[in-house]
Amino acid sequence: MSVLSVKNLKYEYSKGTPFQIGALKGVSVDFEYGEIVGVIGHTGSGKSTLLQHLNGLLKPEHGEILFEDENIWSSKESVRRCRFGVGLCFQYPEHQLFESTVFDDVAFGPKNMGLSENEIKERVLEAVKFVGLSEDYLQKSPFDLSGGEKRRVAIAGVISMKPKVLVLDEPTAGLDPVGKNDLLDLIKFYNKSTGSTVIFVSHNMDDVALIADRVLVLSEGNIVMNGTVEAVYSRGEELLELGLDVPEITRVFLKLREKGFDVPSDVFTVQDGKDKLIEFLKRRGNNG
Ligand SMILES: Nc1ncnc2c1ncn2[C@@H]1O[C@H](COP(=O)(O)OP(=O)(O)OP(=O)(O)O)[C@@H](O)[C@H]1O
Ligand SMILES: [Mg+2]
Repeated sequence: MSVLSVKNLKYEYSKGTPFQIGALKGVSVDFEYGEIVGVIGHTGSGKSTLLQHLNGLLKPEHGEILFEDENIWSSKESVRRCRFGVGLCFQYPEHQLFESTVFDDVAFGPKNMGLSENEIKERVLEAVKFVGLSEDYLQKSPFDLSGGEKRRVAIAGVISMKPKVLVLDEPTAGLDPVGKNDLLDLIKFYNKSTGSTVIFVSHNMDDVALIADRVLVLSEGNIVMNGTVEAVYSRGEELLELGLDVPEITRVFLKLREKGFDVPSDVFTVQDGKDKLIEFLKRRGNNG
């Protein structure tokens, strides 16, 4: 059984007006327990619209969302189960911090779940610690924090519900390189230590290569590619046509091949590139 299944999902904004836009045109995809899925696609391709269906924030006009084999819209209880089981963190989530203390913001979800005071407190402490903030932050106002800290608080607010599926819309957007790498590490660590499925949107192909097990490519409301990082990123030409790009390190290796060097074409992360380059140099050293 998949943890989440999307079946022939169609969605239009501003239906029945001259501004009607087909944002999703029949999307079907399964998400498995424990995997990290990166979602990429040109701006306006439907990524956020898809994500907002996964926890019942948007209701499909056509098609179904199944959470653990149950249509999330089949009853009030199933919508509720999905809202708590699938945690959604928006693009720029720091804009949605609205409580007067970090504690209250992170406690918002667990409170809605109807947990006991003690359990709420425990979950807040755990979540805040998980995102790398100390207990000193709990009584601060979210508005006094830096951009990166606010982002962490917002993510803590979602993981405090202990969702089986963590859905993040552009979690690294606008962060500096250090903040970005820390956050990617954190997402990977969350996935490994809890076994939760993670689905995240990114504009950055390098980020996706770094942590995703699988990649979905959206274009004009359709999924046009769905496979491992290797399988998807090796289709460089098609990605370019979709307005996307392969990681810089991949381009460097492709350039080297063009120049006649016998280096591999399936290099997608800097670390992997480093290893493969050392291998290549050793081989050349032995042969020369
Ligand atoms: N609230 C809305 N009202 C009307 N149209 C919308 C709304 N939200 C999105 N759209 C339109 O639906 C389509 C898909 O938008 P969506 O936000 O899902 O794309 P996206 O892939 O997340 O884009 P981005 O990379 O810019 O975040 C676009 O044509 C967009 O203009
Ligand atoms: Mg978006």
